[in-house]
Amino acid sequence: MLHFSLFFQAIDSIEPLLRRMSHQLSPLPRASLASLQRLQDLEESLAREHTPPSCSMSTPLSHSSAQDTTDHLPRQQPQDDRVEKLALLKDQALECQRCPHLVKSRRNVVFGVGNPYASLMFVGEAPGEEEDLRGEPFVGKAGELLTKIIHSMDYQREEIFIANILKCRPNMPAGVTGNRKPKPEEMTTCLPWLKKQIELIKPRVLVAWGSTAMEGLLGKSMLMRQARGRWFEFEGIPLMVTYHPAYLLRNQSLSEKRKVWEDMLQVLEKLERPISQKQRQFFLSATA
Ligand code: URA
Repeated sequence: MLHFSLFFQAIDSIEPLLRRMSHQLSPLPRASLASLQRLQDLEESLAREHTPPSCSMSTPLSHSSAQDTTDHLPRQQPQDDRVEKLALLKDQALECQRCPHLVKSRRNVVFGVGNPYASLMFVGEAPGEEEDLRGEPFVGKAGELLTKIIHSMDYQREEIFIANILKCRPNMPAGVTGNRKPKPEEMTTCLPWLKKQIELIKPRVLVAWGSTAMEGLLGKSMLMRQARGRWFEFEGIPLMVTYHPAYLLRNQSLSEKRKVWEDMLQVLEKLERPISQKQRQFFLSATA
């Protein structure tokens, strides 16, 4: 244990310097930041392995919360069984028969992917054709854009958790291409899966991408242009509502991209992630 703690103390002591260098002096290559993040992840998972089993899920250490003033210390997460529980939940969801019409049309149940210990969780609408084929959320055109947004936030896809309101692709009449919006009864039927995912992952921040995700999580509809950029709460977890990436693909204006980016800056601030000058200025010329 001693050598781990010395190692992590050393990392902790140079981390602020590295972050300052990357954001104020000369830009640190993104790869270095990613390595730094990986070191932190390694730190957290090793700390988890070495945490006494008496430390339960309900201790305040289970998350490095926004109120956590000891963020400079190695963060410890108690050993818990969320990986196993999430795997079990996935097995159950893959067998779900609750919507016979979707069971008939689906090729895969798209459970969701990512880090069970993610601080940040994204919620979309429903799988499209590509996602249905591959069994993974956000891997089509909208997903490519979402991945770019994730990278611009200095995250990797694997670091966050990505899921949808609906786990099955909404069925389409024979011969009709494209996607349809989930029906209210499909959303109500499927929502318990997502709720359980959120309960197990306990993200510090949720993002609802688009009106379906917002309606599913908040149980009410609002005009997106009024809801986006605002903080809501889902079962005590801060929830940011923003436009769906598919909307940005349809509406290529830089000012709309900037709006989504501003929402992501709020998310990064909520998570106390460092934000570079470059990041702050993305798409700014569009609104000048
Ligand atoms: N759109 C979504 O909302 N979710 C996906 O997984 C893909 C596209």
